[in-house]
Amino acid sequence: MSLQASASAKIILFGEHAVVYGQPAIAVPVSSLRATAEITPNPDGAPGLRIIAADLDKALTITLDAGFLDNTLAAAARRTLDILSAAPPDVTITLRSQIPMASGLGSGAAVTTALIRAISIATSRSLDSSALNEIVYEIEKSYHGTPSGIDNTVVVYEQPVYFVRGRPIETLKIGAPFRLLIGDTGQGALTKVAVGDVRRLYESAPERIQPLLTAIGGLVQRARGVIENGDSAALGNLMLENHALLQQLTVSSPELDRLVDAAVDAGALGAKLSGGGRGGNMIALVNTETANSVRERLLSAGAAHVFDTTVV
Ligand code: PMV
Repeated sequence: MSLQASASAKIILFGEHAVVYGQPAIAVPVSSLRATAEITPNPDGAPGLRIIAADLDKALTITLDAGFLDNTLAAAARRTLDILSAAPPDVTITLRSQIPMASGLGSGAAVTTALIRAISIATSRSLDSSALNEIVYEIEKSYHGTPSGIDNTVVVYEQPVYFVRGRPIETLKIGAPFRLLIGDTGQGALTKVAVGDVRRLYESAPERIQPLLTAIGGLVQRARGVIENGDSAALGNLMLENHALLQQLTVSSPELDRLVDAAVDAGALGAKLSGGGRGGNMIALVNTETANSVRERLLSAGAAHVFDTTVV
């Protein structure tokens, strides 16, 4: 018999980067793309917790021996067991993910969340979402340096959120479902690097950068109203405005700009990069009439994959 836990991908709709500086941001889960953690008995009946990262960067078998504690998955497991006051269960947890890595879809947060959920199941100890969110945030710090916490929050709660760093979580009401295509540039980009570059830019010219961050924050507040009222034309325009501000923060790239332009040319109501930028993903707002042409145009403009998701 095997048991399974999972967690979804996420995308940031508005406010990436500015969110690190206290501005609001909006992000939604992508429930069709998931990371899973399957729990099976250890094959040889051996004692101890084994974690197999099956199709992540490499097949990796982790035990909780001291030598592995610098591995982030082992660190997540160890921290979870400490919080649950549980001994390592004698099982194998196999992690798999459909979520492209290093592309702004929250793959790290999703894999960690699925692993921790599986440990909670395997030890028969319950862990509430807030405690889970805290552990995933700790682990995110080792991937990203100074993450705002938006990724882990959306992944753990699997609901649209209006997020302000350090404030209680606010979920977002979606006035009318809307459809997004997620265009993957196929170029992995480390969020940590983009966040660090924006930090240096901010420190070297705060008088120029702060107004951009404030403008993004204002736009996120407008976007919240527009999403709650279900006005897709206004939503598309706000996406384009947000993309232009992200370009000024230097986090777009020629590939992202090419995909954004291609989507708009093919009839998308709006488009922007999503997440850390410099590579990774962009999103395009489409409807039933434009979805196919936008998808085709994204692929011919170089997208490695196009995912389709409806925000509800
Ligand atoms: O690249 P992603 O999707 O993990 O998003 C990072 C979002 C940033 O605002 C750039 C950083 C953060 O920690 O919020």
